[in-house]
Amino acid sequence: MDIKIIESEKAMSLPKESELGFGHYFTNHMFVMDYEAGRGWYNPRIVPFANISLHPASTVLHYGSEIFEGLKAYRTEDGEIRLFRPMENIKRMNRSAERMCLPTLDEGEALEILLAYVRHEADWVPHSFGTSLYLRPYMFGNDETLGVHTVGHATFMIIASPSGSYYKEGINPVKIMIESEDVRTVRGGTGYAKCGGNYAASNRAGERASKKGYSQVLWLDGVERKYIEEVGAMNVMFKINGEIITPALTGSILPGITRNSCIAVLRDLGYKVTERLFSVDELIAALKDGTLEEAWGCGTAAVVSPIGRLMYEDVEYVINGEKIGEVTQKLYDILTGIQWGKREDSFGWIMKV
Ligand code: PLP
Ligand code: COI
Repeated sequence: MDIKIIESEKAMSLPKESELGFGHYFTNHMFVMDYEAGRGWYNPRIVPFANISLHPASTVLHYGSEIFEGLKAYRTEDGEIRLFRPMENIKRMNRSAERMCLPTLDEGEALEILLAYVRHEADWVPHSFGTSLYLRPYMFGNDETLGVHTVGHATFMIIASPSGSYYKEGINPVKIMIESEDVRTVRGGTGYAKCGGNYAASNRAGERASKKGYSQVLWLDGVERKYIEEVGAMNVMFKINGEIITPALTGSILPGITRNSCIAVLRDLGYKVTERLFSVDELIAALKDGTLEEAWGCGTAAVVSPIGRLMYEDVEYVINGEKIGEVTQKLYDILTGIQWGKREDSFGWIMKV
């Protein structure tokens, strides 16, 4: 694939690594490629990071045809740059595209693009453990007409943000509120797709949680309002009586790559992991009778994040004395160890850039 490159004239300036936070800074270049029905994808290019221009009737602005992915480029102590299971992100992006009637990408070409872009922006991958270059591939419908239909024109882009911790708490336990009014998605809807609308629809509950001092909401299923689904930007796992329970992928939950990796690591360590419908009543019962030993969320941005407090129907529950639990810590150490090259990649998840 012939990727055109136009160099930015701006000097590189990587912010202080201890002050990165999540998603505040961007590198000097972005990847852009266009699509037209009948012609396919064309004009792949790496260009200076800049505002983009859209027709005022552009599909994305009216009907929300947008999907995205999130993955990270990590730097090891000896300077090597690597990705974690990038093909899983590419495959999920295509599943999201299919759901939203956006064009799919050739998997091989998408990987080639991702690697070319990361190589071009390699100097922006920060050096400290826990920091990374967060990569945000995304696609949007870009027809210049107001009719509602399958997209005939689209744009695929990648931007990159040198980032540190997603939560201000870092690896310290976060406070999560169980949402019982709004729902995120329903089965048959778009929950399994990573589309912008899912996040826009969750902001109202997020805002309510934030006002009460909680970092994010834990969603219940949209039909019975009974089963635990996931948190705003991560999947969830609970350790009850030694067994690890995580909500089954019913179609309304994002099939997290970190979730899948955690399950593999936990089973490898000999833990019993069960994916099933898990009701909020069961969760509250386990909180009350003390059998809930640990709870954590997992996702690319959030990594593995212990949940220290849960609020449900105005009652707050403390988990594990608001300390990080043994399994949560183990998972964090193993996953970050593989990602930052401090441990052997025994699962074959790393792709060198
Ligand atoms: N659930 C939601 C809603 C998310 O936005 C994310 C983040 O991508 C996840 C779960 C975790 O998915 P992954 O581990 O693939 O990053
Ligand atoms: C990620 O973890 O990559 C995500 O996409 C979460 C995001 C909504 C901040």
